[in-house]
Amino acid sequence: MPETFRVGLLGRGTVGSAFARLLEERADAIVPVTGLRPALSGVLTRSQGDFEEILEGSDLIVELMGGLDPARDYVLRAMRAGRHVVSANKQLLAAHGEELWATAREHGVQLRFEGAVAGVVPVIRVLQESLAAARVERVHGIVNGTTNYILSEMARAGLSYEEALGQAQQLGYAEADPTEDVTGKDAAAKMAILARLAFSTPVHLDQVVYEGIEHLTSDDLAYAKELGLALKLIGTAERVDGGISVRVHPAFLYAAHPLASVDGPFNAVTVESEDITEITLSGPGAGGPQTASAVLGDVISAMIPPATTPETTQTLAVVEDVVSAFYLHMEVADRPGVLAQIAEILGMQGASIKSVVQRGLGDNARLVMVIHPLLESRFYAAVRLIGQLEFMRAPPRAIRVIDEEFV
Ligand SMILES: NC(=O)c1ccc[n+]([C@@H]2O[C@H](COP(=O)([O-])OP(=O)(O)OC[C@H]3O[C@@H](n4cnc5c(N)ncnc54)[C@H](OP(=O)(O)O)[C@@H]3O)[C@@H](O)[C@H]2O)c1
Repeated sequence: MPETFRVGLLGRGTVGSAFARLLEERADAIVPVTGLRPALSGVLTRSQGDFEEILEGSDLIVELMGGLDPARDYVLRAMRAGRHVVSANKQLLAAHGEELWATAREHGVQLRFEGAVAGVVPVIRVLQESLAAARVERVHGIVNGTTNYILSEMARAGLSYEEALGQAQQLGYAEADPTEDVTGKDAAAKMAILARLAFSTPVHLDQVVYEGIEHLTSDDLAYAKELGLALKLIGTAERVDGGISVRVHPAFLYAAHPLASVDGPFNAVTVESEDITEITLSGPGAGGPQTASAVLGDVISAMIPPATTPETTQTLAVVEDVVSAFYLHMEVADRPGVLAQIAEILGMQGASIKSVVQRGLGDNARLVMVIHPLLESRFYAAVRLIGQLEFMRAPPRAIRVIDEEFV
């Protein structure tokens, strides 16, 4: 009889209950891989179980409660007691990662978190292990399935943002309270974790600038189609001016970009480095059984030692003003000279126009442009001036465009 490897489970909600089922189903198959048979030794929910007792009776703790407290306290206590920990809690890692990783190193235990970013897509493992020798220049990710589903449906079926959100909620892709997803905060936490691993520098959730998708309209998507662009909520972590920039915002992608065709609730991450050119990983970004599969993969890895998150090796500045290309959408009075005045203001800020679509709307016209890359501060200075022109019929709207060239 193989020895039992005792797994204490904190949280039995969507992911926790799928994990408990999967662990039982796969326990026999794990024996030949690890020489041990994993089994649940205790479960903690709000109404069941005692943390100290579970800790005492476990070789490893799986944290699937979510939130910062008491998850942080339990994870720290488990590692200080010499237990490996597996967690899918992105908010916890993005807010307290350095403290948690330092504690794991200090106590010689593993802290694994594949399920925290992009669900079952093995991006953490790839950054930490497979690409450990590559100098990563940039990571782009669609790391929130809810917003990707909403934008895909707006593009595919011409739905408004509200209609697509309602559909996502009906199908279980969005929570009743979708705030964390649609504001970009969930994706920001995941990008903080990816940036930390890609650049070996501390990155806290507070340093990630994020913008959501609530202000996007079906019009944006209709014009994007004409310009050959796909609209996505994109997380970016990249080296800039000796530092790094980590941000999340809606962005247009040219059709050739590997993330442009990632539709529905799927996630995908692109890693760019001169050593490897570019690789893309994609797959289901969330869901109980999918995330549980990533969590169980981590448990199996922890049963076969060793892997700890290396110390940060540098402290890179987080750069705020970066170079981006833009889509600019304007409603203007339809009369001569309008385009010239707009072009002049853009030109004064060093912005040059890549393409323009113009549509008549009675006495008004709609102008949609794609602007070549320039410093964001200069572009927004131009947008502020354009917004003050007397022929503008609505405030101009801008969305970033990501060019398809790789490092
Ligand atoms: N859902 C997904 O698709 C997904 C994907 C990737 C990562 N994640 C991450 O996985 C984690 C779990 O998500 P989930 O969707 O499974 O959450 P969930 O359905 O809300 O389940 C949370 C579980 O934790 C328990 N819990 C919460 N606070 C507790 C406390 N103070 N003391 C004891 N137990 C407590 C709850 O107990 P009760 O049962 O008593 O309420 C419940 O069993 C989160 O960190 C989430 O970000 C989720």
